[in-house]
Amino acid sequence: MIIRPENSIDHPAIRELNRLAFGSEDEAWLVDALRDGGYVRESFVAERERRVVGHVLFSELRILTGQGAVGALALAPLAVVPSHQRQGIGSRLMKTSLSACRDAGHQIVIVLGHADYYSRFGFSTKLTERLASRYAGPSFMALELTPGALDGVVGDVQYAPPFDRF
Ligand SMILES: CC(C)(COP(=O)(O)OP(=O)(O)OC[C@H]1O[C@@H](n2cnc3c(N)ncnc32)[C@H](O)[C@@H]1OP(=O)(O)O)[C@@H](O)C(=O)NCCC(=O)NCCS
Repeated sequence: MIIRPENSIDHPAIRELNRLAFGSEDEAWLVDALRDGGYVRESFVAERERRVVGHVLFSELRILTGQGAVGALALAPLAVVPSHQRQGIGSRLMKTSLSACRDAGHQIVIVLGHADYYSRFGFSTKLTERLASRYAGPSFMALELTPGALDGVVGDVQYAPPFDRF
């Protein structure tokens, strides 16, 4: 299996795998809307035997503070095609993509998801305690790709406009 950045040939496969993984059109729509709006910062696929079986997307996010905006990434969605789940593909996608985000200079990632799953990769609700969002709660977590990147950051989290639909 390889993890690599998405390219335009992957778009239909990414759409289909999000439909299959979530059993809904919402995430497939979100990916397309983020891409069409120019909000995607990083996007990776997991490919096995020339088939795209997993995908993760990072879009731009801003934390509006009293001292200006702090840039971050929103991780969403993450999906593995149902026939390939629980084989470690999601974990490999997460580790490789987070490392690539760090290498690209990104410092903060925010996710809304299952605490049991994302805590494995270092995400924590402790880091979002001082961030306001309509998604705030036990599923609203952050990860510092640069240690201390959220130190002293207090503000409102602003997702890219396509998230307004949810
Ligand atoms: C979540 C998802 C990406 C995980 O991918 P995966 O390739 O199956 O994950 P891995 O094989 O790396 O890890 C599997 C582990 O994650 C756990 N896991 C999977 N989904 C989980 C969930 N929703 N909540 C908590 N744990 C979960 C499994 O129990 C398993 O645990 P184990 O290692 O102790 O057995 C995949 O299940 C998926 O696409 N689900 C539907 C879409 C979705 O919910 N995406 C996440 C949005 S927050």
